[in-house]
Amino acid sequence: MNSGKVRWFEEARFGMFVHWGVYSLIGRGEWVRSNEQLSDADYQPYVEQFDPQSFDAEKIASLAAEAGMKYVVFTARHHDGFCLFDTKTTDYQSVQYTGRDYVREMLEAVRRHGLKAGLYYSLIDWHHDDYPHYGDRIHPQRNDPAWRGYEHHFENYLAFMHEQVRELCTNYGKLDILWLDYSYDDMTGEKWRGRELVRMIRSLQPDIILNNRLEGSGEGLGSLILGHPTEMAGDFVSPEQIIPPQGVTDENGRHVPWEACVTMNNHWGYYEEDHYFKPADMLIRKLVECVSKNGNLILNIGPDGNGCIPEESVFILKEIGAWMKHSGESVIGCGGVPIRKPEYGRITGNGKTLYYHVMEGMIGGIPLIGLKKEQIGRITLLKNGRPLPVSETWITGNYPDIVFTDLGEDPRLPDTADTVIRVERK
Ligand code: GLC
Repeated sequence: MNSGKVRWFEEARFGMFVHWGVYSLIGRGEWVRSNEQLSDADYQPYVEQFDPQSFDAEKIASLAAEAGMKYVVFTARHHDGFCLFDTKTTDYQSVQYTGRDYVREMLEAVRRHGLKAGLYYSLIDWHHDDYPHYGDRIHPQRNDPAWRGYEHHFENYLAFMHEQVRELCTNYGKLDILWLDYSYDDMTGEKWRGRELVRMIRSLQPDIILNNRLEGSGEGLGSLILGHPTEMAGDFVSPEQIIPPQGVTDENGRHVPWEACVTMNNHWGYYEEDHYFKPADMLIRKLVECVSKNGNLILNIGPDGNGCIPEESVFILKEIGAWMKHSGESVIGCGGVPIRKPEYGRITGNGKTLYYHVMEGMIGGIPLIGLKKEQIGRITLLKNGRPLPVSETWITGNYPDIVFTDLGEDPRLPDTADTVIRVERK
């Protein structure tokens, strides 16, 4: 893993995942074909109906930028096999059906907003005849006797998949992230001809960073966390729907770049009935938690079948953006610090500057743990730059080893989600 490659990634800290495709029309998530064992024939009417007039890459990219996100990862092809990009390998693709290359639209919009451009690409393909069907763990036709004994030529599928990846790495300009997904059972590593795939990707896109899912998934993290990662290990691990309790280190205790991928509700692809959206204040705190553990957060939106972004997602991302506008400095470009977690919140840092994230009001002052008075240059409320004092009243006199500051007479936190105190060290 080349640390130089991931430097921008570990400074960016906050990304947007966009899960969108034909499955969005059905409105029961991106796994609907597998969950409901829909055959190709069952799915084809949706493929033909797919004509998302409201899909607006510019709107998505500007929402990501406004939310303070620094990169976007867009689904070029999900497990259903339907390509949202122009490919010579198959007609099962958007240009054939709607005349539009959504990957191109998305990447151009993302770059217009100065964001880094990533693509999600599924190693799995439930449409291709030469991908294992009957008896596979997750294929929609895993129990379909019509596919029992079918002679799949998996090497044909691999040639097809590798060619599509080559097209994406050749025809769409500089890609910053390729988010491959995912390995399971014996479908892992060299079964994908992973070494050859990685060499091709890196020869076409020398600065690209890859996740770990040629060898893993949300469950297994692959060889990147062993002391001797393989060529297929990728550059970061991708814990899914969880923030690692202690961050991620390899067997030698060395930091491993990681990105927690999290949905806003409980589904990646649009799910009409799922209104269980995480509130903005929670997501702000989860972003801070990731950064305080030296990791990234990629937060997902799932536009519907017509391309509209769910209103809840828009509202929440704008709220996060409002916080990022005044306090984003405390996460972007930051990481964890070797100070224990304070009881009221978390601490992030960037060089000599520390950010104390106060998520719970304190009585008697806010302990700036890990600091000695003589180390302190300036203390300010990040939100508006208001200078804050080192409080030296009788109240804190019993705790001479702890430096306290306070936010003034109002017991309510200036920002209930996360009030950030910026401490510049001498
Ligand atoms: C899992 C899901 C896949 C989703 C991915 C996002 O691999 O199977 O549907 O795209 O997580 O992290």
